[in-house]
Parts: sequence; structure tokens; C-alpha cells
Amino acid sequence: MSFPGFTIWFTGLPCSGKSTISVILAETIKKERGKIEIMDGDVVRTNLSKGLGFSREDRETNLNRIAFVCNLLTRNGVPVIAAAISPFENCRQWARDLIGENYIEVYTRCSLEACIERDVKGMYKKALAGEIKGFTGIDDPFDEPTDPEIICDTDQETPEESAAKIIAYLRENGFLPASGSNGHVAGAVSQGAQHK
Ligand code: ADX
Repeated sequence: MSFPGFTIWFTGLPCSGKSTISVILAETIKKERGKIEIMDGDVVRTNLSKGLGFSREDRETNLNRIAFVCNLLTRNGVPVIAAAISPFENCRQWARDLIGENYIEVYTRCSLEACIERDVKGMYKKALAGEIKGFTGIDDPFDEPTDPEIICDTDQETPEESAAKIIAYLRENGFLPASGSNGHVAGAVSQGAQHK
């Protein structure tokens, strides 16, 4: 049986868990599909989007580039994970329209307070002190996703639980074998998954 390419398109505030969940997710996908690509916002900004800043225009350019590459890979059968903040609904819609039915939006929903508490890179601290201007969630907008395929409440579940929820969705929707290498069947770990 062959499986299609797909794009898991994360969206969420800084420190909401996108990159952490991506790495866990990628392990299972790699094991079962033999390949995976991750387009992480921080990494993309050191190569494909090098030189871009955080104005609305630059963020849109960054996200459109990511969507463009995700589409090339997806249509060639590759599983892809995009892990950028992706704060604007119009860009997410653009990616959805481009990639089509193999676009899976995952919202890492997390209270701003919990994200600030994590502050992995100390950037919230700087933004709150006014040392960084236009930081998402502080003084730059984040459009709440209106219709994501999956919501991970990352201030209530562990990264492993969030990854399991996404894996369950992939099994249930024909992107991964219904039964994983550990013998779990589709749905066995999907409690709480929110499907369209
Ligand atoms: S996006 O808005 O274009 O989707 P992206 O995910 O690529 O953002 O980059 C976000 C990363 O850039 C954050 O993890 C953070 O480390 C860094 N960063 C630097 N300045 C900002 C800013 N003003 N707002 C958000 N993230 C920023």
C-alpha cells in the first residue's frame, strides 16, 4: 500500500511547542514512511529566508516560501512538517489552497502566560522589556486559527501526548499505516483529538 505526501503545518505562539513536537513526530513518521523533512522557522531563516525580518511583509514572504517548498515535496510523496509561528490567517489559507487536501493544520494552543514562563530563548523577556519590537504575542498579532484539523493544548498535554494525537490523525486519515510498528491501531491514542 502506498501513502501520499502531506504537510503538517504548525501554527502557534513562540514557545508553544511547535519545534519540540515536530522532532518527536518526525521520529515516528521517519520510521514508518522512510523519509521526512522539517521546515523549522528558525532554521529556514538561516538559509532560504536569510535576511528577512519580522515585518508583516517579510513574515508573509517567509511563510509563502515555506509553503512553496512544502508543496513541491508533498506532491512528490514526501511527508513534511512546517514549524513556523505562521501568525496570519491569510498565509495559512494560502498554504492550504496551494497544498490542497494533504495540508494538515495543527494549532499548538497555549496561554501567553505559559509561553512567557517557558521563554526558551529569553526573547519574551526582551520583548516585555521593549528591547525587541514587534514580537508575536506581545506587540505583534497572532490570528487565532479558525479551522485547524488538530488542536494541541500544549499547556495541558505533554509533547509526547500532542505528537500521539497527530499520529492518530495521520493513521485515521490514510497518511500512515492504520496500525503502527508497536501494534497500536488507529484511534488507540486519539482521545481528545479534534477532527474537522
Ligand atoms: S514567522 O512569523 O515568519 O512565522 P518564524 O517562525 O519564521 O516566524 O520565526 C520565529 C522565530 O524567530 C522565533 O522562534 C524567534 O526565535 C525569532 N524571532 C525574532 N524576532 C521575532 C519577532 N519579532 N517575533 C517573533 N519571533 C521572532
